[in-house]
Amino acid sequence: MPELIRWPLIDERDEEAVLRVLRSGNLARGPESGKLEREWAERLGIDPARVVTTSTCTHALHLAYIGAGCGRGSKVLAPAMTFRGTTDPILFTGATPVFCDIEPAYWSIDPAEVERLADSDTRAVAAVHLHGTIGMIEDVSQVCRDKGMALVEDACQAHGAMTTRKAGCFGTWSAFSLNQVKPLQGGQGGLLIGPDRFSVEAIRKVAKVRSYFITEMAAALARSQLGRLHENLDRAESVMERLAAEFGDASQSFRLPSSRPGRWSTTWHKVRIAVHSDEGSRKAMRNRAMELLTHNNVEVSLWQSGLLPDMPAYREGEPPSEGFPVSRELAEGSFILGSEEFPFAAQQPELAAFYAQAFREVAKDLRCQSQST
Ligand SMILES: Cc1ncc(COP(=O)(O)O)c(C=O)c1O
Repeated sequence: MPELIRWPLIDERDEEAVLRVLRSGNLARGPESGKLEREWAERLGIDPARVVTTSTCTHALHLAYIGAGCGRGSKVLAPAMTFRGTTDPILFTGATPVFCDIEPAYWSIDPAEVERLADSDTRAVAAVHLHGTIGMIEDVSQVCRDKGMALVEDACQAHGAMTTRKAGCFGTWSAFSLNQVKPLQGGQGGLLIGPDRFSVEAIRKVAKVRSYFITEMAAALARSQLGRLHENLDRAESVMERLAAEFGDASQSFRLPSSRPGRWSTTWHKVRIAVHSDEGSRKAMRNRAMELLTHNNVEVSLWQSGLLPDMPAYREGEPPSEGFPVSRELAEGSFILGSEEFPFAAQQPELAAFYAQAFREVAKDLRCQSQST
C-alpha cells in the first residue's frame, strides 16, 4: 500500500519564507500581509484595495456580517450543514442565524429554501462552498439581488475553485481561511474580500480595533504556499479521477461526491462519501462501512456528522429539530475519505487505486450482510 502523505506539505521555500520574517524582527503588521493581499487580489482579478488579511476566517466572517449590516434584530440565512465557523460570527454581531436545508447535488444552501425563508428582517445569506465545491451560488445570488439581501460567501475551503466566477467573487462579502488544514494555508489566518475599497477601508478600522491581524509568519507562509496552489488542485483532481474510474461495483453501496463540470470547480478539500441505506439503518450502515474500510487500511474520519440547528448554542433550550432532511441524511449517512492530517486530495493516484479496490470489497461484504439479515 502506498504511504500516506501528511498535510500540510512544507518544503525549504516555506522554511525560507518564515525565517525571512523572523530575521527581519517584524512579526506583525509588516509588509508580508500587504503583499499577500495584493497577490490574492491578483489571483481573483480584483482591486487589491478590496482584500484584507485577518487573524482567522471566523474573524473575517465576523467582519463580513458587520459589513453587511447585520446586528440585533436582523436575521441571516445559513445552511444547516456546515462548520460553526460560518454561523458563530452571526451570533457575535447579535443577529440570529436562520437555518436552511441544503440541495442534494452539491450540498450547498438550497436556493428554494432561501426564497422561502427570507423575510423583511433577513439582512444576509451565508453561502458555503462545502468541502471546496461550488454549488448553486448563482441562483442564491439571484434571490439575494431580488430581495435586497447581502450575500456572504464562505469560501473557507474553496481557494482556487471556479465555475462562472472564481470562488470569493460571488459574494457581497467573501472570506477564506488560511488555517493549516485548508487548500491554502499559513498555519492560521483569513482573507476577507469586500464589495469596494470604501466599505473595505471602513471594515479595516473595525479589524484594527479588534486586533484581527494575521501574523507576518502566517502571511509569509501563505504567500509561499500560494505558488503551489494550482499544483495541489491538479493533484486533487487526478486522485479523484482515479478513484472514480476504478470505483466500479462499489457504487452499489457508496456514492462519490459530485462537482460541476470543468477544471477546479471544487478543491476536493474534503471527500465525503455517502453510504446507500434506508433511514432506519443509516448511522449503523455508515459505522459498519467505516469499520470495514479501516480494517482494509483505508483512512476514514467523521466531520460534521450532526447539524448546526441541533447544537445547544443554536436552539436556546428547544429540543433538536426534525427538519432539514437532505442535510440530516448526509450528516448521518456519510463519512470523509482521508482525514485532516492525511486528506485524500493530497495523496497519489496509486493510493486511489488501492482504496477503490478496498471499497469494492467492502461493498460486496455490505451487500452480503444485508442479504443475510
Ligand atoms: C466552512 C468553514 N467556515 C469557517 C471556518 C472557520 O475558519 P478559521 O478556522 O480560519 O476560523 C472553517 C474552518 O474550518 C470552515 O471550514
